[in-house]
Amino acid sequence: MTARNTVCIAIDGEAASGKSTLGRLLAGKLGYLYFDTGVMYRAVAWAALQRAIDIHDEQAVTELAAQINIQITPPGCDDGRHYSVFVDGVDVSWAIREPAVDKVVSIVAAYPGVRQVLKGHQRQIGLTHNVVMVGRDIGTEVMPDADLKIYLRAPVEERARRRYLELQARGEEVSYEEVLNSMRQRDYQDSHRAVAPLRAADDAIVIDTGHLSVEEMVTRALKIVRSKLGEHSSVTSCTDSPIR
Ligand code: CDP
Repeated sequence: MTARNTVCIAIDGEAASGKSTLGRLLAGKLGYLYFDTGVMYRAVAWAALQRAIDIHDEQAVTELAAQINIQITPPGCDDGRHYSVFVDGVDVSWAIREPAVDKVVSIVAAYPGVRQVLKGHQRQIGLTHNVVMVGRDIGTEVMPDADLKIYLRAPVEERARRRYLELQARGEEVSYEEVLNSMRQRDYQDSHRAVAPLRAADDAIVIDTGHLSVEEMVTRALKIVRSKLGEHSSVTSCTDSPIR
């Protein structure tokens, strides 16, 4: 625990490494808020595409990030979503998961001004809630003072297979090769950008999820949580209100 008197568990890792699944299930078991920061970058990318803003126009995209209102709320409907995401009141919960957004989101996420805007909101939530926060730079930049940092990795072929199955289940017409290539490109961009590149924090516990079932992954993480946070990990406080 830090002086915060709330608990923050940071989970970082590459695309489809299991972060969102682990984050959501862990938060549910602990009674913490689950916050997937990737949706904010996806929301900015979606808004840029929607308004036909040139994705390579850093200034325009940065201004857009500061202008739009991103809201993340409990699901509100029963179509398989785990939460809802709104941009200026428009429900974009599924739209931000489309391959077109996958293609450009890492470009948007590399802009320092965009990161600065979103990081401010993310840190505010991290300081005021018992939260499992998921992303690329939570343990290194957003919440370097997190009580526990977990970093997930898995071979890119396995991660692409997972994402391909997810997209297929949603009826997206995309081939495995396209998913694999897009993921390789995103991994490269995320880990080579100048600001807040994807990397494990020095004090993160690394879990390789390549050969783990979801249940095994959660069990392993829960064990780490209990041994690292002890009695604090039994804090329960569910948040049903919008977090932003
Ligand atoms: O679910 P998946 O791992 O495919 O991606 P995501 O977590 O939704 O994040 C989408 C993109 O947002 C990433 O590829 C990063 O470019 C960016 N991102 C970031 O830069 N920092 C974060 N804390 C979270 C996401």
